[in-house]
Amino acid sequence: MNIRAYEPADERGWVRCRVLSFLDTAYYDNVLREKEAYKNPAIELVAEIDGQIVGLIDLELDTPAEKVCSKAGQVGGMIWHIAVHPDFQRQAIGTKLLRAAESEAKARGVAYLQAWTRDDGWVRTWYEKHAFTKVDSYLHVYMDGKKEFDQAQFESNDKEILPMTAFAHYIGSEKEQMKEKFARVHECICFQKPL
Ligand SMILES: CC(C)(COP(=O)(O)OP(=O)(O)OC[C@H]1O[C@@H](n2cnc3c(N)ncnc32)[C@H](O)[C@@H]1OP(=O)(O)O)[C@@H](O)C(=O)NCCC(=O)NCCS
Repeated sequence: MNIRAYEPADERGWVRCRVLSFLDTAYYDNVLREKEAYKNPAIELVAEIDGQIVGLIDLELDTPAEKVCSKAGQVGGMIWHIAVHPDFQRQAIGTKLLRAAESEAKARGVAYLQAWTRDDGWVRTWYEKHAFTKVDSYLHVYMDGKKEFDQAQFESNDKEILPMTAFAHYIGSEKEQMKEKFARVHECICFQKPL
């Protein structure tokens, strides 16, 4: 297994690896068809076995002009994507990608990492095993159909537009009530780790 910098020719393999890795997670319908590009400097690594992309990590770095992480006064790195192809999970590929990204980040003056993830217990456990701690959270709420729109008191000003589905961030404190009101609610958690 070779860990190396992402190259444009890897894009199809990167997209496939990410989509497959998310199928068994709370991000199952978060499908990208192209790799994300970053405004700030980024560390973009892939794990390759026999020409196949089996893992990936993307970490975007704070700059004085544009912060992507939330702590003031320190340079942070945001993990936007980390994924290992399901046929290759639990073989330390994710760990090796993280270590490689961390050592490059440290060398570039990054003081801490952040990552947002949803409520998959095993993914949380993976972050915690790697010394990340939870520092923040809010809810991702999906609304589907009239009953759920009525619950949220959403309606369109145009009576000929009938909303069918919606995605919302809930930042209030009544999290348990939101989970009772709507069928699909995820806790989105910010993990943080000093380097
Ligand atoms: C989380 C992820 C990146 C870890 O990479 P990995 O190479 O599989 O993990 P490692 O081999 O480094 O670490 C193994 C540990 O991760 C956890 N883990 C990884 N895959 C798991 C799975 N399919 N089921 C349960 N636990 C799993 C376990 O704690 C495991 O330790 P164990 O085998 O001793 O029980 C990878 O599993 C993945 O791609 N998950 C889906 C994508 C995702 O959720 N990304 C983060 C969203 S922000």
